[in-house]
Amino acid sequence: MSTRQARILGVGDYRPRRVVPNSEIVEAIDSSDEWIQQRSGIRTRGFAGDDETVVSMSVAAAQDALKVAGVDGTEVDCVIVATVSHLLQTPAAATLIAAELGTKGAAFDISAACAGFCHGVALASDLIRGGSANHVLVIGVEKLSDITSPTDRGTAFIFADGAGAALVGPSDVSGISPVVWGSDGEQSDLIRQDVDWATAVSSGETAMPHLVMEGSAVFRWASFAMAKTAQEALDRAGITADELDVFVPHQANNRITDTMIRAMKLPERVRVARDIVDQGNTSAASVPLALARMIREGEARSGDKALLIAFGAGLAYAAQVVTVP
Ligand code: UT7
Repeated sequence: MSTRQARILGVGDYRPRRVVPNSEIVEAIDSSDEWIQQRSGIRTRGFAGDDETVVSMSVAAAQDALKVAGVDGTEVDCVIVATVSHLLQTPAAATLIAAELGTKGAAFDISAACAGFCHGVALASDLIRGGSANHVLVIGVEKLSDITSPTDRGTAFIFADGAGAALVGPSDVSGISPVVWGSDGEQSDLIRQDVDWATAVSSGETAMPHLVMEGSAVFRWASFAMAKTAQEALDRAGITADELDVFVPHQANNRITDTMIRAMKLPERVRVARDIVDQGNTSAASVPLALARMIREGEARSGDKALLIAFGAGLAYAAQVVTVP
């Protein structure tokens, strides 16, 4: 049996230049700054400009991660991009990003919505442990402002843009625990694109298809089922909540995070990601964005055990414990 293990070597992020406060969102959805803050925790979010594309934001985040890791792009032999907002059916965003980074080898996208980054970390870990790759870049990126209707009350204040990246590489000791993951397609109607592209075109629709969400149903599912998944991830890592240092849940809603913390009985000393407050819900980008920030601000320190968990459309979810680089 192989003894080769994998760990995260560096994390990077890219946040859009334009910071949009609730006050800019509320009129179109008959809402208020107070309601949005109370129900979700969000105060501001980043909306990308025309020149801040899925590819350019990814390249910037990846370059940041490579720099932190001290690894050159040419040493990367696989690029995995998790996104639902690369609006070109083919080729994959990963191929364009790989070309700009000068990486060699495989490049492909995965579609697991908000859980995509954690799926990518699981794939990267197993590719490295199995000997198929040495350095894998995992990128979570979204430009959800392209596929969110500014007049949709259930989504316009939540979804946002950005990119986060992690470089995963070989290690003598395990720095990424086995993933706990799954999906529930029977509930796939809860978060989805409103119509498929062919229907939109044949009906003469001029507006872009956009995301729709039954927020309360997703909220209930995420708060309780995901606390159980998070506990299973700790079990698979062979640690208890008392041994955890950092909790980086998908930045979906601060109230979901609070409910999970209570259900898991997380000790107060565990540091918790709250990137959603000024970044919004960036789907596949939210976990790496939040982790990058915690590292930068000294809340997550090298060697810390961090529990990552993400969940969303599909209903797809994934969780694992990683060692902070
Ligand atoms: O990232 C993928 C996974 N996504 C998530 O995990 C998101 C999960 N869901 C949520 O975060 C929450 O469901 C929301 C933040 C989206 C909504 O919060 P909620 O507490 O579930 O609100 P609700 O939909 O149950 O609506 C409560 C009330 C309703 O009014 P009544 O019936 O109590 O009079 C709504 O009509 O709030 C009203 N409402 C709004 N008011 C102001 C709904 N949307 C809005 C709005 N502004 N935008």
